[in-house]
Amino acid sequence: MSKPIILVTGGTGYIGSHTVVELQQAGFETVIVDNLSNSTADAVEGVKRITGVRPHFEQADCCDRNAMAAVFDKYPGITAVIHFAASKAVGESVEKPLLYYRNNLISLLNVVEEMIAHGVFHIVFSSSCTVYGQPAVLPVTEDAPVQPAASPYGNTKQVCEEILRDTAVSSALQGVLLRYFNPVGAHPSAEIGELPVGVPQNLVPFITQVAAGVRKELSVFGNDYHTPDGSCIRDYINVVDLARAHVQAVNYLSEGKNKTAMEVFNIGTGKGLSVLELVAAFQKATGIKLPYRIADRRAGDIEQVWANPGKAHALLGWRAQESIEDTLRSAWKWEKKLMC
Ligand code: NAD
Ligand code: WQD
Repeated sequence: MSKPIILVTGGTGYIGSHTVVELQQAGFETVIVDNLSNSTADAVEGVKRITGVRPHFEQADCCDRNAMAAVFDKYPGITAVIHFAASKAVGESVEKPLLYYRNNLISLLNVVEEMIAHGVFHIVFSSSCTVYGQPAVLPVTEDAPVQPAASPYGNTKQVCEEILRDTAVSSALQGVLLRYFNPVGAHPSAEIGELPVGVPQNLVPFITQVAAGVRKELSVFGNDYHTPDGSCIRDYINVVDLARAHVQAVNYLSEGKNKTAMEVFNIGTGKGLSVLELVAAFQKATGIKLPYRIADRRAGDIEQVWANPGKAHALLGWRAQESIEDTLRSAWKWEKKLMC
């Protein structure tokens, strides 16, 4: 019997490539669609080196409706779509809002329209904890109010969630909206990982570049927040753990376990770590002393947020497994590989 095929848009990207590995290891066949705007085709070979199987790869833009239709025509065995393809840099989205609205909204519209046209009704969508803004109650649960978005990027996540909810009302579409907290780390093999463009905006890639000597020191953005050590608190989720949540989500839909047509889940560890605690964990995990200084707050930063992942545990059977030390070691191993 042929394996069910999962279409993974954005599948050569950071989270997508790790998800393709976990899907293949769980017995699925995968088709990647990516326009390589923020990744390279090396990820396809990286997946092959880890799993022994090269995923199907179609270099195409999800904003090209005909190209998407052609992918569904070519692979009639597709049973579900995981839609990662999007532009994701918060700062860039403030500079280029139309690029973000075009790419993130049109790609979703095309994917969903072609899914329905081809009788594919299960979608897993990459959403973000950014939809919660600064929650009033921590840890944050899925029923916390969605707050006005702080950036065009954040708004695309909110609008995409709404598009999916509205579509599920009037069609057979069913889906899972995964709200990721802060994905970090790399595959333990260091065959795949994150490829930051230019100066990393995110904390862990900046830390590994400082450790590698590419950057002089880390700026810790603020130590006067209302947190125990004054630095911001986040929920750092290992990318392989996060990838596994997608496999669970696909299974949950195919087994018909979902209670509503569009079910939301927080994907985090349930534990908040401050910036200074993360720096200490990196030093402990790698033995490297990391130069850092306290700098001004970064505009737009949320003070503290971490997940209540209880719903994902109860309904998807998913929970984070990897320790922060192993996660940071994997990020460092990947950074060393990039240096070679
Ligand atoms: P990434 O940039 O590494 O991966 C996205 C991939 O999509 C890239 O390979 C890119 O080339 C591709 N892509 C972009 N637009 C495309 C288009 N129109 N057609 C085809 N391919 C296209 O980013 P990531 O960190 O892996 O993020 C994946 C998803 O998760 C995104 O939707 C992102 O918004 C979401 N997300 C990421 C984070 C995070 O911190 N990394 C947090 C929450 C949510
Ligand atoms: C984490 C903490 C910084 C860099 C962003 C997006 C969010 C989501 C995940 C997609 C913060 C501090 C950082 C540095 C620092 N992406 N920091 N020095 O801001 O929680 O979330 O990525 O959906 O939408 O906004 O992640 O990694 O940028 O920052 O002190 O050089 O590290 O102030 O407290 P963030 P981050």
